[in-house]
Amino acid sequence: MTLQFSLATAAPETAATACILLGVYEQGVLTSAAARVDGAIGGAIKRQVESGDITGKAGSTTLIYAPAGIAAKRVLVVGLGAQKGFDAARYQKVAIEAARALGKLPLTEAVSYLTGVEVPGRDAGWRVRTAALAADHVAYRYTATVKPRDKNAPPELATLAFAADIGAESGLAQARGIAEGVRFARELANLPPNLCTPAYIADQAEAFAEAHAQVSCTVLDHVEMEKQGFGSLLAVARGSANKPKLIALQYRGGAEGAAPYALIGKGITFDTGGISLKPGPGMEEMKFDMGGAAGMLGAFVAAVEMGLKLNLVCVVPAAENMPDGDSYRPGDVLTSLSGQTIEVLNTDAEGRLILCDALTYTVRTFQPQAMVDAATLTGACVIALGKHASGLFSKHDDLAAELLAAGEHTLDRAWRLPLWDDYQVQLDSGFADVANIGGKSAGAITAACFLARFVEGQRWAHLDIAGTAWDEGRKGSATGRPVALLAQWLLDRES
Ligand code: BES
Ligand code: MN
Ligand code: ZN
Repeated sequence: MTLQFSLATAAPETAATACILLGVYEQGVLTSAAARVDGAIGGAIKRQVESGDITGKAGSTTLIYAPAGIAAKRVLVVGLGAQKGFDAARYQKVAIEAARALGKLPLTEAVSYLTGVEVPGRDAGWRVRTAALAADHVAYRYTATVKPRDKNAPPELATLAFAADIGAESGLAQARGIAEGVRFARELANLPPNLCTPAYIADQAEAFAEAHAQVSCTVLDHVEMEKQGFGSLLAVARGSANKPKLIALQYRGGAEGAAPYALIGKGITFDTGGISLKPGPGMEEMKFDMGGAAGMLGAFVAAVEMGLKLNLVCVVPAAENMPDGDSYRPGDVLTSLSGQTIEVLNTDAEGRLILCDALTYTVRTFQPQAMVDAATLTGACVIALGKHASGLFSKHDDLAAELLAAGEHTLDRAWRLPLWDDYQVQLDSGFADVANIGGKSAGAITAACFLARFVEGQRWAHLDIAGTAWDEGRKGSATGRPVALLAQWLLDRES
């Protein structure tokens, strides 16, 4: 069940609902909504501030049940932290914690007045959108292969309203579209690799196209790819019984004939490393190696659901990297779709090998006005940036600036790393035009440099999302990144 969102214009003391959410800063500073309610309920909030029960610490929550004097059944007081320095990132953190606390209460509806809090540099539409996306993120449950909640469990939050005037409606509409895209991405990425195969991803893309009039889908199978010369992608896929697919979704929301934007996502449904086999511990996390594909498909879904007035394509090379008697091996020289030959020095550097053919295909088929790829490409990027920022690489400063700005706006941040040609020598090979690995140093950069050889001068940027696509660990789950970043980038590109 997905959460429903709406706007609320009622004053907080008159909102007839199961719960209202109010913000309180540290040092007993009440937001105006909290002050109004405090007046109506005889100072109950202030008394709890004085007693120390309400600290205002960012993300802390305190429930007041059935206070006399207001229409709501409950008040959830949410700490905003110090008023000084309150910013967009804090607002988002607070929105997430508030949604978590709300989710633990036995109720189905609530009205949040946190959206009335001023956030420097952000408008009401952003505040509503960010709060809605936070709530949707918290409400998501993976259920595809685990038993559903017990029937006697208390009721769950189903509708959430945000205090804002009608001007914020566009923020809410964007939130609905983006939430849909984020859910699509998270669900696909969380599915186990025995279910989420290249064919499954292709089926999902086709089903989405089927359900949307302005969307069409083409899927190339291995026979077709062989005919066309996808030598690099096919080599990676060869060791797996799950045949590869090249999926291309097209959305016509813009002017006829206008060059599309292109999103390309790495779709390795499982990465064992191949003959250059990965170590066993934690290998199950390599089911998330199609996180780029999930994120780009999610961004595509968001763009379509928002009805953006632009043309967009999403290209997903999908394959599984397995060791097998028929696997590709270190030492092999592949001929890519571009015609460039590639010496394989490590079969675990497979992402770039499926992406290079997808980039060539995208440039030649769609002549996009800009293309962005996302890939869980390198462990080196995780070492460099950790889980907070995706790595961003581009030779086009304007495109890089657009993407950085979109990441900052949505707090789905990226950080730029260099893509200078100085690094290209690390990919020199004595037996082919290029080697598929660049040695120990600057691993995230040399991976991007490899891709740069296949973009034929197009405006292109690469996002390495190895650290951001999922939360690591036994119960780690897909984050839905970078759907928000790309949805914002496309919103900003709308003509
Ligand atoms: N999918 C991995 C990258 C990865 C590793 C993402 C860990 C997230 C967490 C990729 O295919 C890979 O194996 N890359 C190698 C490249 C190396 C062989 C040059 C890596 O990063 O070790
Ligand atoms: Mn690999
Ligand atoms: Zn991989």
